[in-house]
Amino acid sequence: MGDMRFVTILGTRPEIIKLSPVIRKLADNNIPNAVIHTGQHYSENLDAVFFEQLELPPPEYNLNVGSGSHGRQTAEMLARIEDVLADEQPDTVLVQGDTNSVLAGALASAKLDVELAHVEAGLRSFDRRMPEEVNRVLTDHAADYLFAPTEQSEEYLRAEGISDDRIFVTGNTIVDAVEQHRKLAAQRSTVLDEHDLAPGEFCLMTAHRANNVDDPSRFACILDGVASFAEETDSDVVYPLHPRAESMLAAHDLPIPDVIRIIEPQDFLDFLRLESASALVFTDSGGVQEEACILNTPCVTMRTTTERPETLEVNANVLVGTDPDQIRTAGKQMLSATHDWPNPFGNGTAAERIVDALRNGDDPNDGRSGGTGP
Ligand code: UD1
Ligand code: UDP
Repeated sequence: MGDMRFVTILGTRPEIIKLSPVIRKLADNNIPNAVIHTGQHYSENLDAVFFEQLELPPPEYNLNVGSGSHGRQTAEMLARIEDVLADEQPDTVLVQGDTNSVLAGALASAKLDVELAHVEAGLRSFDRRMPEEVNRVLTDHAADYLFAPTEQSEEYLRAEGISDDRIFVTGNTIVDAVEQHRKLAAQRSTVLDEHDLAPGEFCLMTAHRANNVDDPSRFACILDGVASFAEETDSDVVYPLHPRAESMLAAHDLPIPDVIRIIEPQDFLDFLRLESASALVFTDSGGVQEEACILNTPCVTMRTTTERPETLEVNANVLVGTDPDQIRTAGKQMLSATHDWPNPFGNGTAAERIVDALRNGDDPNDGRSGGTGP
């Protein structure tokens, strides 16, 4: 497979972060790989800042699709990705995760009968009301290589009838990314000083998922719950505000409680520093549930389901939905949680395992231990 050619498709903040170790590993091995950025995320602080900080070269293609309804956004990506794949003629297309960019990449590859590799395959919340769940199920069923982060994900895939020889348990590339950057974050980030925060004495919050923030009553409950926790425990809370959440606050005229401090979306090093120095994280993000678990910070997830059950099993995370009382109570309980759980997402060699499997057409039974921790 010496002259194999790859195309990697990405479009949003978490894809840039989680694919960065794979993109670097392909480059280290001199394997041709053209990166297509769909342009789903385009604001400097959701996009360019990550290319700079993760030292990724600019993408070969930017499709500039931008924001829109799910159908239109996905359709425009599909049409434009198809044109690029027709020119590039890759052997294999790589996608990561569960966004509309991922689904568009999967459909374009399937239509052209190009091999598809799905990084972070087999996650399931079993909640089809979430756009991410539909995207990940469809992508898994179109994929030829399914890189499952854990044995739990592998089991879900098998239960859906996906054949064993397509599934590789690799660990999650977020462990690679966190390990490559956590020391740098501790050394270089000045975010705590900038916001006058002391390690262990503040909480971090993120909320941006469409099925939470697009519903004004649910979003208001989240803000209420975190605010009442902050008041009762006399905690500082910082909330780097995602643009979707920002536009929903404005559209529904929702007031931000005084005890919640809104800040700009953070770059990766500053966000890692905030996560590792915070006493507790409140979130509805997928990636933040994983990172809090890896960084040994307790997490309260403001959803009723999670596609990251491994974090619950090791007692790093609790699912509380959006009821304010539940958020407050769980926050208080998790503040006193022990922090010594094992990391269930692998040992930071996911990118290597992925690239090895792609190069060698590896036996799927190799690398099984990648998902079960160090
Ligand atoms: C998308 C993913 C979600 C993921 C999130 C990561 C889907 C269905 N959703 O959600 O799974 O958790 O990315 O952060 O793919 N906007 C900007 N600047 C940008 C991008 C968006 O201001 O660079 C604003 C626009 O008003 C846009 C809104 O944010 O309408 C939502 O953006 P969109 O890409 O549709 O979805 P996300 O909520 O970011
Ligand atoms: N992140 C970041 N800055 C922020 C918020 C999040 O760098 O202000 C990173 C975080 O470290 C994680 C990823 O973004 O790696 C999570 O992405 P997000 O929450 O947007 O999406 P999800 O994981 O829910 O799809």
